[in-house]
Amino acid sequence: MRVAVISDVHANVLALEAVLADIARHDVEKILNLGDHLAGPLWPKKTAAVMAELDMVAIRGNTDRYLAEGDADLRDEEDLKVIDAIDGEPMGWLRQLPETAVYGDAIFMSHGSPRSDETYWLDRKVKKQGFRRSTVEEIEAELPRADYPLYCCGHTHIARVVTLPDGRIVFNPGSVGRPSFNMNDPESVARVSPAAAYAIVELSAGKWHVNLRQIAYDNMAASAMAQSWGMSEWARDLAEGRTR
Ligand SMILES: [Fe+2]
Repeated sequence: MRVAVISDVHANVLALEAVLADIARHDVEKILNLGDHLAGPLWPKKTAAVMAELDMVAIRGNTDRYLAEGDADLRDEEDLKVIDAIDGEPMGWLRQLPETAVYGDAIFMSHGSPRSDETYWLDRKVKKQGFRRSTVEEIEAELPRADYPLYCCGHTHIARVVTLPDGRIVFNPGSVGRPSFNMNDPESVARVSPAAAYAIVELSAGKWHVNLRQIAYDNMAASAMAQSWGMSEWARDLAEGRTR
């Protein structure tokens, strides 16, 4: 089995198209998409159109929930602009996405942790200091009852693979559309790049392998687009490949 795992596209159709071109070279049987599809000051409508054509298993991220569920308290000004830009139809698609899914009886998919789409699973937020790596105990505490060899999650936008003591693997493919890094983790710092991130996952010789990939694309064009929405923080993140 070989699948591609993407997450946190955040309306970045340029990054998504670059990743899809790379995926096409890897002969995967399916694309798994961990959510946060359309929320971002970029190209939400175009991104929805590209995703509508994909043969993929997709789940819902927290920002998809904010957009789709109509809870005014969860929406900010940027969400309202995105909702305006999406203009109808893709909202129905967002609304029917499941919170979690299992692919091939082997890969458990969640956006945050299996318990919550707002929980940062493999890296934790520390007040004013960014992220720190989660401990093995913290990671295990979020596992669902059901036992699978692989669990994948998004939400932090930080790519990371963790092999638990019992051999099970939990990984985050990073973000296609707004990659970030744990600046308190030397391994993560070594990977800092504005390139689009995703993962190829393969079962070979009875073992699972997670290949974290970084795909260069015209991130400065995405940065300029964010700036044209008046979102300078997004523009800076897309230019630098990290969130301060
Ligand atoms: Fe996200």
